[in-house]
Amino acid sequence: QSRDPTGVNILRAPFWPLLTRCCRFSSDGSLYSAMSAVGGHVGSIRRTFGPQKLLKTENVWLLNPQFAGAAIIPSTLKYKEEIYFFFSEINKTARVDEEPYRARIGRICTVDEGGIKNLLADSWTTFMKARVMCGAGNTQQQYNSMKQAVVLTAEDKRAGVMYGLFSNAWGRTVICAYSIEDIDQAFSTSKLKGYSNSFIGNRPGMCGRKNSSAGNDLKNLGVIRYHPEIEDVIRPVGVAPLDLPTDDQITHTVADIVLAVNDEHYSVLYLGTEQGKVLKVLHSSDGVFIISQYSMFRNEGPVLNMAINPQKGHLYVATAMEVQRLPLADCGRYGDTCRECILSRDPYCGWDKARRRWTAVTTLRRTSPRQVSVPSNTSIFLPCPVRSFHATYRWEKDNCVKNYPCLFSGDFCVLGPAVDTPLREGVFRCMATEDGFKVEVISFKVVSHGRLLAASLASTMGPSLLLAMAALWLH
Ligand SMILES: *[C@@H]1O[C@H](CO)[C@@H](O)[C@H](O)[C@H]1NC(C)=O
Ligand SMILES: *[C@@H]1O[C@H](CO)[C@@H](O)[C@H](O)[C@H]1NC(C)=O
Ligand SMILES: *[C@@H]1O[C@H](CO)[C@@H](O)[C@H](O)[C@H]1NC(C)=O
Repeated sequence: QSRDPTGVNILRAPFWPLLTRCCRFSSDGSLYSAMSAVGGHVGSIRRTFGPQKLLKTENVWLLNPQFAGAAIIPSTLKYKEEIYFFFSEINKTARVDEEPYRARIGRICTVDEGGIKNLLADSWTTFMKARVMCGAGNTQQQYNSMKQAVVLTAEDKRAGVMYGLFSNAWGRTVICAYSIEDIDQAFSTSKLKGYSNSFIGNRPGMCGRKNSSAGNDLKNLGVIRYHPEIEDVIRPVGVAPLDLPTDDQITHTVADIVLAVNDEHYSVLYLGTEQGKVLKVLHSSDGVFIISQYSMFRNEGPVLNMAINPQKGHLYVATAMEVQRLPLADCGRYGDTCRECILSRDPYCGWDKARRRWTAVTTLRRTSPRQVSVPSNTSIFLPCPVRSFHATYRWEKDNCVKNYPCLFSGDFCVLGPAVDTPLREGVFRCMATEDGFKVEVISFKVVSHGRLLAASLASTMGPSLLLAMAALWLH
């Protein structure tokens, strides 16, 4: 059993690709499970226990699915909560020269209560699926079989990053990273495959309370029943697999969000290899960096499982023969000068000036982004004061996988509405880099339709005021 930071427990049988169960709901206690196709079973995604109606996928929606993971995508609005399921589909009748695998994300809304008597009566009415690509751009070199997927999201945030472990027909493995926001965007806006009419009323398959007129509902149920796949394809951040400077085959991966001394959140990946090694990798908007590498097993066997215990600060690593435990903040291994330690770039560690040594960063420190609450259709501008003209300023969103340039500068580096800038809900951090050191200057948490003072002011008086107000707060 491994626990990922979204709080989803994934239980795996010894032959883990066959069965992936995702359990838990703190709020209503429902159990959701995904069963891979095996033997005579076609495979399905179900709600198997709980106070809500028990639902399943229609058999035609999934083609021999092999599940790789699942994650709850939280939302401040309970009825918008979703679960993503990650899997590969296998076309058993594909010709030998064709790739039989397709990597997929399927999603359901937890509010789903099923359809009507003759249409999706016991099935999801919010199931949709998308093709996931992992490979360089549109080239032929694609990794189509998804082996494992992990999601990093913070509490009540619909943003974050999904890491997928993929392999190709020759068994070569790579990791691709995806923005949860991109996935969310695709599911909410893409055309549906094989359906060219426009939608009347609500878009089919959206999470929401049932309340529209019955006629529309019936039509939408039909659309979802026959066209659950979206046309848009989910592509990785950076449009290519992570550029890991290693040729080792990766057999298992887990991920952790770390709040470092500079108050920035970092994604750290632990990659288990075929030779029983563990690579500790930092992933940020600057790319990937191998922080350290461990060989801790007596017998060289593939790493079969890993789990993080965030309370104890340990990583457990298992091969077929052995289990080992590593401290996440393994700060002693980087030598004893400040320079050596900082070069290690391990976000779990920091330099203790008083005791002149490199120590684990206590997890008590938290950033407190200023909350900005706005109606969903207003243009907003987020200001970041430029304090040093030798530094470069940039905006990052959520888990630092993407970054955005300033719209205009001078005394402020401003993030505003522009192409490719999804200025919607999320945490935006302004980062300044000088002499290779990166610090957070200011951060904002943007939420729509809240009841904060800033919200009412912003909606009545416009963005210029928001900018000015933020400037005031800075003093
Ligand atoms: C599987 O592959 C065969 C052969 O290419 C093709 O005819 C068939 O449509 C494919 N099935 C699906 C569901 O894609
Ligand atoms: C939506 O449902 C609630 C009860 O659940 C009802 O009071 C309300 O009138 C409905 N609104 C519409 C527009 O149907
Ligand atoms: C923005 O939303 C409000 C209500 O939410 C609506 O009255 C207004 O027309 C919208 N403005 C635009 C430009 O869509």
